[in-house]
Formats: sequence, C-alpha cells, structure tokens
Amino acid sequence: MAAEKPVEELTRDEATRELIVLARVIGQANTAYHAQDAPELSDAAYDALRQRNAAIEARFADLKRSDSPSDQVGATPREGFAKVKHAVRMMSLGNAFTDENVVEFTARIRKFLGLKPDDRLDFTAEPKIDGLSLSLRYEDGVLTQAATRGDGEVGENVTDNAYTITNIPHEIPGAPKILEVRGEVYMRHQDFEALNKRQIAAGNKPFANPRNAAAGSLRQLDSSITKSRPLRFFAYAWGEISDPLAKTQFDAIQHFADFGFSVNPLLALCRTSDDLLKQYRWIEEQRATLGYDIDGVVYKVNDLGFQARLGFRSTTPRWAIAHKFPAEIAHTLLEDIEIQVGRTGALSPVARLKPVTVGGVVVSNATLHNEDYIAGRDSKGRLIRDGRDIRIGDWVEVYRAGDVIPKIRDVDISKRSPDSKPYIFPDKCPECGSDALREAGDSVSRCTGGLICPAQAVEKLKHFVSRGAFDIEGLGAKQIEAFFDDEQLPIHEPDDIFTLQARDAKNLTKLKNRDGWGDLSAQNLFAAIAEKRKIPLNRLIFALGIRHVGDSSATLLAGHYGSWQALEENLKKATIGEGPEWQDLLSIDGVGAVMATALVTAFHQAASRASIDRLLQHLTVKNAVIASPPGSPVAGLVVVFTGTLKQMSRAEAKATAEKLGARVTGSVSAKTDLVIAGPGAGSKAKKAAELGIRTLSEQEWLELTGSNP
Ligand code: IVH
Repeated sequence: MAAEKPVEELTRDEATRELIVLARVIGQANTAYHAQDAPELSDAAYDALRQRNAAIEARFADLKRSDSPSDQVGATPREGFAKVKHAVRMMSLGNAFTDENVVEFTARIRKFLGLKPDDRLDFTAEPKIDGLSLSLRYEDGVLTQAATRGDGEVGENVTDNAYTITNIPHEIPGAPKILEVRGEVYMRHQDFEALNKRQIAAGNKPFANPRNAAAGSLRQLDSSITKSRPLRFFAYAWGEISDPLAKTQFDAIQHFADFGFSVNPLLALCRTSDDLLKQYRWIEEQRATLGYDIDGVVYKVNDLGFQARLGFRSTTPRWAIAHKFPAEIAHTLLEDIEIQVGRTGALSPVARLKPVTVGGVVVSNATLHNEDYIAGRDSKGRLIRDGRDIRIGDWVEVYRAGDVIPKIRDVDISKRSPDSKPYIFPDKCPECGSDALREAGDSVSRCTGGLICPAQAVEKLKHFVSRGAFDIEGLGAKQIEAFFDDEQLPIHEPDDIFTLQARDAKNLTKLKNRDGWGDLSAQNLFAAIAEKRKIPLNRLIFALGIRHVGDSSATLLAGHYGSWQALEENLKKATIGEGPEWQDLLSIDGVGAVMATALVTAFHQAASRASIDRLLQHLTVKNAVIASPPGSPVAGLVVVFTGTLKQMSRAEAKATAEKLGARVTGSVSAKTDLVIAGPGAGSKAKKAAELGIRTLSEQEWLELTGSNP
C-alpha cells in the first residue's frame, strides 16, 4: 500500500477498499506462513498490516468484513493438524435443566439396573467446566499423544500444544501401560483478562470469553503461541486403559490426583437425588468465586460395574448427565424479523437484535421458532407469555443456555409504541417466491419450491458437507455459497461436488488461478473430495438431509439395513402405511411413522430420487459394521424380547444384546432370528412358533450370552 493515509483521514470508500485489500494480503501472508511454511512478510510488516486493519475497523465498525483478519486470530487452518482416531469414542453428555429431570435420571438408572428401593446407588457430582475436552494418551507412563474431541471419533493431534500446559504431567511413574486421561482445558478469569489486554495492545481482537480463548489457544499450529497462553487442565474421565484404575468413579479420580493431575476440588459423593440437588445448589453458590467458568454440574454413577452395565446411547453415556445452570438473560430492542429458509424449506423467523451482551457473548440474532411462537401460542394452540405477541420495535428478553442459539423469552409490552403492528408471517418464500404452506398440525410453514428454491438447495448442500455428513476439508458453508453462485464452476447439487475437478480441467480459467485460490489449495480441495468418494453408510444417509433423519437415526438405519443396496431396495419397494417393507422400517426401535414417511417419500419423489441416483454414481458406500466383541454368539442376529423379564430390565436386556452385536427389534417377522420370551409372552411368542423361530427363556438367553447381571 503506497503512501499510507492516516486512518483518521480515510473516507468511507477508501476504508472499504483498503479493508478488502488488507483481508487478502493478510490472508495470503497467513497461508504462506502456516501452510507453506514460507513467510513472505517480516513479522514487523505483518504486525503493521494487522494493526492498520484493526484501526480502520475501530473507526468504521460497520465496514468490518465477514472475512476480517481480526477474526482469524487463533483460528489456525484446520488442515494444519493431523487427525487422530480415538481408541475409545469421546462422548458428550445428556442434559438436565430442572430438578425433575434429575429425579427422572436417577429413577431411570434404578429401573435399568432393576434396583429395589433400598438398594444403594451412589453418584459423584462435580462442576461442568466450560472449556474444551482433551484426551491425553500415556504409554508406559509417557505422554505420547493429545487429541481434541473433534466429532467424537476423530479429533486433532495437538500433542505439542498439550506439552506446554503446565499442569499436565509429561510422565506418570507407576501408570498402567496404556492410560488415556480425559478432561477439560480452560482458562482462568484473571488469565483471560490479562490475555485480552495483551491482544488489544498488539492490535488483535480480544476473545469473547474464556472458552473461546482456550479453544483458540489450544488450536494453534505454532506451539510457542500456545505456550504463551495460560491454559489449565482438569482431569475427570478416561478413555482406553490397560488395567482398571479403581472400582468407583470417585476412587479413579483420586488416582488421577495421585498421578499428578489437577482434579476439581468440588467433586463430591452423593446418595439420593436430594443430595445431588444440594450439591448442585452448593456449587452454584460457589460459581462466582471459582475464578473460572462453569456451566452446570455433572452427575455420574459412582460404581464402575454399574457404569459398564448402563453403557452408552449413540453419543451419550446412560450413567451420567449434565445439570445445566439456568440460562443468562438480557434485555434489548428487536430491530427486525427476518425469515430464513432451511434445507427442508422451513421458514424460520430470526430476530435481529440491537447487540447486547448475554453471559459474556455479544448477541445480535435470536431464534423466534415459528409463526405461533411470535403470536404468543404454543404448537397446541395454548397461550404462552399470557398471549403476548412479539413485534418489530419491541423490547425483548433474550436468553442463552450454553452453546445453543439465543432465544427470546418475553416481551415488555409497557415499552411498546402505540402504533406498532402485529407481525404478519409471510405466505410466500422470501427466497424464491413460491407459496409457503403450513400443513394441518404442523407448526412450521414450508416453501413449496423444492430444488428450484436457491435457499433450500444451498442449505441442503451445506448440510451435505457438514461435520457428521461428508465433512469435506476445505469445503464448508462459505465455500458452498461461493460455488453455488459460481458461473464457471457451479455446485448446485451434491453430485456436482464429485465432478468439480473434471469440470475444472475443461474450463479455461482454472480454480488454482482464481483470486483466493492457488495450486496447493485447489489440489487440496480435489484431494479432500476424492477421499470422500468412499463413505460410510450412516454418513451418507445423514448427508441426504431427509426430514426427521438426524445422525443417530441415520446410524440406526445403517445398522438395520447394513448396506446401501438393502436400504435402497427396501425404501423403493415400500409403500407408506402398509406392506412388509413398511413394517420392517417401523420395526427399528427409534423409527416412527413420521420418519418412515419422510424416508419413503425421499426415495419415491422423482426429483429427489434422481438427485440421489446421480450422486451414488460417484460413491462407494462402506457397509455398516455392527461392532461386536469377538466370539459373540449373537453377533448379527435379529432379536426380539417379549413377556416379562425377571433378571434384567427390558432396557438392560436390549442394551446388552446390542453390545454383543445383535439387532433388537420390536416385532417378530420372517427376518427374526431369535425370540426371548419371558412369562406372559403372548402374540409375539405365538408368531415365533408359527414361523419356526428359535425361542429362548430368559435364563437360556443369559446362559447363551454369559450376561448374568
Ligand atoms: S464427563 C463420558 N465431566 O462437557 C462422559 N464432562 O457436554 C464424558 N465437561 O464433552 C464427559 N466438565 O467436554 C464430564 N466434569 C465433567 C465435565 C465435562 C465439562 C464437558 C466435556 C463434554 C461436555 C459434554
């Protein structure tokens, strides 16, 4: 930039142009530094550019770009870290929001374990640290690997950075041969404030909260930066372990302390739900003086034998729950209501708010759910907020619980202007102009434009490349939007992703020669796409973005059908509401008529089927493998439980069968391999007899599987 004008003298137009140039130049310098390991600028020149960018943004706050280099502090390129497959999946936690939820949690566990009212069941209670989780692997007592959670299965290798965290031991004398210690990386308030002061002094953007600061610091490619950031670690769980540490959760954590880890001093043992709630209140009272952020209390079953029996649902343990603190609230002005169109065509109203800080984060958008919510009714037509509607120009109460999108709870009618008008929900799609229809009994209006609606198409694509779906490195929401509008190299439907490289080869202007791209980044993108031509069945099902089919349903479907061929054949043959294929679909525990209808529809509608067919030409689908321990006598069998079970609850029987690789369904059909019939078994046992299906008593089942509780 020649003859630099002082920032105070820039006109708006000059500032706009200069911010564009700065974003590009700093972006290139970042890439050169991180990805290509060949810095183009001296550190001083680089810092000067960043400072100028920050100064212009400070003067013209509204001109700040969405790709501003100020926001890229700490956000190192994702491709910079190697991937690590976790030996044991990193789970998340189910949530409790009310005392009642906690009582239900303990009751559910007692029922699952078949405990009598007097049988003892202990829990631990400890703060839920608001940071990010980290898994530390020790082999022969030496720290060999540290990985972030990632999607739970695969995380990022941040070993060098973990080494710089002072309260993580590098060596543990006397540790089991393999030991994976898991816990939370966080930043203390005082350290966070000092870091932000340094950030501002250096012309960098301050972090919004300690959690962002911790995440940004841990995910630095250059570990000397991480080292300069005061991170800390609390150990609270474990992954793979060669010898059990203890018989209880509480004792295991004491071992962590003996090994030299920091463990939370507020960890306590509790007996009843009342004890848990007391400990919750106690921790809540301490919250303001702890010096680090916590966002709830985690309860865990103390007996590790019970934990093993309880096991896991798809992503959360049955033996633990997070009791969240109440959401933080703030008041602000509702400046506008905008309608966003999602991938299934749902019209979602979004509140544009006068920016306000809620629990340390600046909030300027909140969800308004749907038409009824705005009007002051719930989905059943009952009044909410005593029937107060929400209008543009209203003074509203915003709240935010954890990571989720902020919501609007209430509205202050006393501050409403006399000429404000009720909000009228649109009956046309704001993106494509098609009619928006609301079916009877549905709270959501939907655009009827299908794939002609650009918003639906883009959102479908964003979903397709998202984390739980194809997760294509370098092809995120931002790139999808750009390719969608790209005239030379468009991506309009999923199959276009897989023809991108071939189409680029035929174009005159190649991707690598375009602004913002280079040889390396284009090659990386093509390689990342090629890598995903082989895709696990569950990810593919989820990626299709069929209504009501989330990632855990996709996993259920994949487990049930096993292969794409089987799934496709069944869904193409199925008719809604009747026939063996329909019954087969409904026999999957967790699939109801609503989801089944959406699935069958997706495979019958001409346009969506054609789109699926085109996509599949480019893919090799990996069959679902149902994990089962070696030598399991029931691996792959389809099993039905019926009648009363005496030794285990139905829930535990089902969970055990699934752990052994069996598939549990609710109804007997020709596909059933085994029926376990307790006393009182009726029509299902009869049907099994008619079909000649092997039937066992509960005792015989326990002997076969060696799973006496
Ligand atoms: S236990 C299998 N304990 O909360 C159970 N998690 O919402 C593993 N977290 O991913 C988690 N404090 O990052 C556990 N005392 C605590 C925790 C805690 C914070 C985080 C953790 C987890 C997330 C789930």
